[in-house]
Amino acid sequence: MSNKVEIRGLTKSFGSVQVLHDVDFTVKEGEIVCLIGPSGSGKSTLLRCINQLEEAQSGIIRVDGLIQGWSERSGKLYELSPRNITAQRSHIGMVFQRFNLFPHLTALENIIEAPIHVRGIRRAEAIKQARQLLENVGLANKQDSYPSELSGGQQQRVAIARALAMKPRLMLFDEPTSALDPELVSEVLAVMKNLAEIGMTMIVVTHELGFAREVADRVAFMDQGRIVESGTPEELLTSPRNSRTKSFISSVLQ
Ligand SMILES: Nc1ncnc2c1ncn2[C@@H]1O[C@H](COP(=O)(O)OP(=O)(O)OP(=O)(O)O)[C@@H](O)[C@H]1O
Ligand SMILES: [Mg+2]
Repeated sequence: MSNKVEIRGLTKSFGSVQVLHDVDFTVKEGEIVCLIGPSGSGKSTLLRCINQLEEAQSGIIRVDGLIQGWSERSGKLYELSPRNITAQRSHIGMVFQRFNLFPHLTALENIIEAPIHVRGIRRAEAIKQARQLLENVGLANKQDSYPSELSGGQQQRVAIARALAMKPRLMLFDEPTSALDPELVSEVLAVMKNLAEIGMTMIVVTHELGFAREVADRVAFMDQGRIVESGTPEELLTSPRNSRTKSFISSVLQ
């Protein structure tokens, strides 16, 4: 399997505070990786760097072999223009903890916005595709609802459909269920599980260890800006080698 994401020597600071320390991290095509770790360990920052919402100080991130933020011509690197960065980013779907839907647009309008304006797809075609996506996430009857008329779980499923409308090659999830009432978590995880089954490459920051155990190919534990340990769910969650991983997992399971 080829590498979907390849990160080498990634370093990120905010002011004088270094939050990512020389991170190396690889995700293979079709792989589902869950990223776990304590608050402030750098999980969101790592995802945001992959998606170019943050600029790193050093290191290289490749997605599908292409260096994010740079073009490579005859062995030299040239910084991409904001327009080309937007184009590069449009191949990565990201779903955040808070739903981030446009409040003044219906579910359907939220989904067709980027395909029409960023991809230049015809409106009729975008609507057809959006209806299919809403059906896939179990919301066929909610296309005309505004975000305020939807539950948190429904909003999050619209957010996933909206990301998928751009036909992403990679999906990043940053604690997609942690703002939800407990009874709404499973409907969102079910949609993510379906995505995993159709072969989408996914990096999922989550505290849902049950989901990680069931769906992830690999779990990585992050602490203080470093990936401390990674392995199969069984290896990492049942018999972690590192003492910090061990104590984190037992704290989450309590
Ligand atoms: N825009 C920012 N400016 C300054 N510091 C920041 C900024 N974003 C994040 N940080 C700091 O970087 C560190 C890593 O933050 P990050 O949000 O990546 O952690 P996290 O692992 O996602 O935590 P959580 O589980 O709470 O979401 C923290 O110390 C945080 O305070
Ligand atoms: Mg975070």
